[in-house]
Amino acid sequence: MFLLRFKLRKLRRRCRVIPRQYPTFLALFIFYVYSISNWMPEFTTSNVPLLDVVMSTRRINLSLTEPCPTNTRATCEGCVPCPSEMFRLPGWKDCIPWLNCSEIAVQVHLRRRFTHGVTKRVWRAEWNGYDVVLIKCSSRKSKRENCVKGLTNLKLIQGEFATRVIGNCPEKFQMVTMYYKHGTLRFLDKLLRRPELFHYNNIQTRFQLCVDYVRVLAYLHNSPIGVRVMCDTPFLEKLLDQYLITDDFHLVVNDVDGLEEVTKKGACHKRPANDSLQSRMEMESQGLPTATEPLNFQLRPAYDEKIDIWKIPWVVEKLLGSVKWSSFAKSELQEIMEKCHAVDPRQRPSASEVLQEMLRVQELLSFWKYSSLDVEDQLNMSQN
Ligand SMILES: *[C@@H]1O[C@H](CO)[C@@H](O)[C@H](O)[C@H]1NC(C)=O
Ligand SMILES: *[C@@H]1O[C@H](CO)[C@@H](O)[C@H](O)[C@H]1NC(C)=O
Ligand SMILES: *[C@@H]1O[C@H](CO)[C@@H](O)[C@H](O)[C@H]1NC(C)=O
Ligand SMILES: *[C@@H]1O[C@H](CO)[C@@H](O)[C@H](O)[C@H]1NC(C)=O
Repeated sequence: MFLLRFKLRKLRRRCRVIPRQYPTFLALFIFYVYSISNWMPEFTTSNVPLLDVVMSTRRINLSLTEPCPTNTRATCEGCVPCPSEMFRLPGWKDCIPWLNCSEIAVQVHLRRRFTHGVTKRVWRAEWNGYDVVLIKCSSRKSKRENCVKGLTNLKLIQGEFATRVIGNCPEKFQMVTMYYKHGTLRFLDKLLRRPELFHYNNIQTRFQLCVDYVRVLAYLHNSPIGVRVMCDTPFLEKLLDQYLITDDFHLVVNDVDGLEEVTKKGACHKRPANDSLQSRMEMESQGLPTATEPLNFQLRPAYDEKIDIWKIPWVVEKLLGSVKWSSFAKSELQEIMEKCHAVDPRQRPSASEVLQEMLRVQELLSFWKYSSLDVEDQLNMSQN
């Protein structure tokens, strides 16, 4: 403050001496005050020497000055997504291009293998001080087809709903993605039992994941690459494995090897030639149990995206768990969940319709959160 006053005095003196240049000085003065009050550069402390070369621009403390979500950058118009084939990690000012083949070969260091499937191998790796994931499709042509398709899909659906790509080498069938430390949705319960994350084990976190899940579906069902349906989800656990939890407990779709386009010919399965309503109803209800049996997760065959809708109630049930207020949330969602289980796929709501309903309930929950009365008590009161 003393320094500021001193400079001000000096400036003022100069302004008096050269009155004709006053506007220039005023502008300089405003800029000066602005720069020292708001834009004190604050360099991030992570040890990323190479990045300083890659990003020659100065990095400032973005947590203070720029509340943009990662992979978007601040502009005068607000937060905008990185241009295509570029990415931004937390703490960076600008987006940089995806790593190319030579950069992946030199800068990405393998740490630990996650999986060794038939079609691909996946490693946890390190790039420039950051945890990343390296995916290598099988070198055998016959085996790698699905994997390559998955990598292509992931590139095409980049945005807030998908695992972030940060490097791409189609020549070697490799891709580098961001590493999500919380892992897949399948182990959510285990994750939220950890003492350091225990405060996340509440209806707000869990309901947000449900909202995100339906939002991802709504996106995929109207995606830049057409109406897409997740075909490779024969069991609930396999389905949950294909989504990752972000550091701030949102959800992104990760494994899109089985993301098929819905066409007149079908999607997960080929539509029969005579797809009359009658035959369709017969086929769709083949997987349906009788009234006394529990509903079947894997309803076959699936000709369009409505199979994703059919599976929503299981996912919601699993994600909501049994924390305080989850039974309230479930009872509020009961009607829309029943609609998701309509036998005729055309009677099921769209993902956007489910989303609208989920947002309504989310608003209710946030209202109860701030209300002093316990919602379960309220429910019991209204029932009695
Ligand atoms: C800069 O951001 C970090 C978190 O990213 C925060 O801990 C730190 O306090 C911030 N610096 C200042 C000067 O506020
Ligand atoms: C990869 O990117 C680096 C840095 O942008 C560039 O110097 C290099 O030529 C690129 N390599 C290939 C094979 O494109
Ligand atoms: C057409 O649908 C009917 C059921 O309505 C079925 O019996 C018949 O086999 C189907 N024909 C062909 C060629 O699939
Ligand atoms: C509300 O009522 C149910 C049974 O109707 C009971 O199991 C539950 O413990 C009650 N909750 C509270 C908070 O009293």
